[in-house]
Amino acid sequence: MKPSVFIDRKVPEEVKAYIAEHCSIDCWEDETTIPRPLLLDKLAKADGLLTSGRRIDSELLERSPNLKAVSTISVGYNHFDLQAMKDRGIIGTHTPYVLDDTVADLALALMLGTARRVAELDRYVKEGRWTSGDGVKLFGRDVHHAALGIIGMGRIGEAVARRARFGFEMDVLYYNRSRKPEAEQKLGVRYAGLKELLAASDFVVMLAPLSAETTRMIGREEFKLMKPASIFINVSRGRTIDEAALIEALREGTIAGAGLDVYEKEPIPADHPFLKMDNVLTLPHIGSATEKTRFDMAMLAAQNLVSALTGGTPSAIVAELR
Ligand code: DGY
Repeated sequence: MKPSVFIDRKVPEEVKAYIAEHCSIDCWEDETTIPRPLLLDKLAKADGLLTSGRRIDSELLERSPNLKAVSTISVGYNHFDLQAMKDRGIIGTHTPYVLDDTVADLALALMLGTARRVAELDRYVKEGRWTSGDGVKLFGRDVHHAALGIIGMGRIGEAVARRARFGFEMDVLYYNRSRKPEAEQKLGVRYAGLKELLAASDFVVMLAPLSAETTRMIGREEFKLMKPASIFINVSRGRTIDEAALIEALREGTIAGAGLDVYEKEPIPADHPFLKMDNVLTLPHIGSATEKTRFDMAMLAAQNLVSALTGGTPSAIVAELR
């Protein structure tokens, strides 16, 4: 009998067809998120789950006695309770590599967008406020030749560094759990301690994956180390920073601006202070959201799942579950 798979969101027809060649499938086709009780019902008999961002915890695993593999359509897997999965021998997979350049592009878009005030000045023009020459009040900051600090030098960090060094001739520092001598040589980037990086950078880009170690790693003390003219960019996860401390730093002029794709709570609440700040560029967690990349991610997640359920070795098992 074919293994049975539940797909908890809409995925491209080609992706469904690929899974259906090897497994029996049931798919949540609604645009809304499947309610948790219904998801648990669906998982009562499933061997595999294709998901993105749903919390995989002990309760869910207990209610899914046949479950063998969970494949997430994301590189981040902070929604996996790794210990609970390990205890039950569940294979967990994710989608690295295929999104690196797309997320790096967005990091650059946030740097350029905040530095040159793109969204704010778009509103300025569309609201009919452009009535005289471009005075001092429209000035922004240069990205080219500025100092960039990258926190978390994985594949996406390297892709950002490559763009910054060779496209914008920036001086690039990085902070990472381990040094990357090869990247240093290839990209001309320099390793720095976190404090040194924060103090020296005009732009700080947060790319460290969310874990117990990185939860709120940037807070009030860290923002205080940054230059008053500097800009903070987050394309990792909202909880890698202390959001209240960032709001305070922006209000008090400790730093000049922020470009954010991720938040402590998503979707961001309508009354959130960021939404009233002209020096904050806000995006709705679209780091990897291009048609091609999202297709590639869904197909890779499908291949991982099929492989896990048919006795193969998926190409992207999450590191902690290998
Ligand atoms: C991921 O894949 O984890 C990204 O956050 C998606 O944009």
